[in-house]
Amino acid sequence: MPLLEIENLHVEIDGKKILKGVDLAVNAGEVHAIMSPNGSGKSTLAYVLAGKDGYEPMAGEVRFDGKNLFDMAPDERAAAGLFLAFQYPLEIPGVATMTFLRTALNAQCKKRGEAELSTPQFIKKVRDAAGKLGIDQDMLRRAVNVGFSGGEKSATRFCRWRCSNRGLRCSIAGRRLPCTTRAPRWIFWRRRS
Ligand SMILES: Nc1ncnc2c1ncn2[C@@H]1O[C@H](COP(=O)(O)OP(=O)(O)OP(=O)(O)O)[C@@H](O)[C@H]1O
Ligand SMILES: [Mg+2]
Repeated sequence: MPLLEIENLHVEIDGKKILKGVDLAVNAGEVHAIMSPNGSGKSTLAYVLAGKDGYEPMAGEVRFDGKNLFDMAPDERAAAGLFLAFQYPLEIPGVATMTFLRTALNAQCKKRGEAELSTPQFIKKVRDAAGKLGIDQDMLRRAVNVGFSGGEKSATRFCRWRCSNRGLRCSIAGRRLPCTTRAPRWIFWRRRS
């Protein structure tokens, strides 16, 4: 069974048809890159999957891990492992990246009925994830995305996804991926371990 299965998805915004019958199946462990012209609906698809307000499906079905995604609230989708990495991540002055990470992870644990992470568990998880991505610990003490370079923003949002240790990442990666074409794209994948 695919991890993500999209069937005949139609989305309309302000009376304008944006997605007209999208089909996509993503198996666990696979990486999919979707490339299309600007304004053709890649972000719209990501928003519909994440459950952003105003982006409602008109027709079609989406199953995530076998469950009907549209029966789930956005926070339930996140707790089940769907992660949307923003194309333009917001800066949050006054909130340390560490605090943000911990709050997000614990909110997901709570939603899944799991115990919150203890301080040592959390520190280990973040250190492991940050270490693998070459993120300096000092950066995690800085306010979320404030003054981060484009690459540092990408690395820290990837770190957030790695810490959650499960699920599907929808990344609106823009031009940052090493690739032969400069078209915007998405990648979807799931950790194997
Ligand atoms: N909230 C909205 N209100 C009005 N139009 C919208 C809204 N969201 C998306 N659209 C329109 O839907 C179309 C698809 O936009 P979308 O952002 O999904 O494209 P995209 O493929 O991600 O583009 P890009 O490659 O430039 O990131 C565009 O014409 C856009 O203007
Ligand atoms: Mg886009």
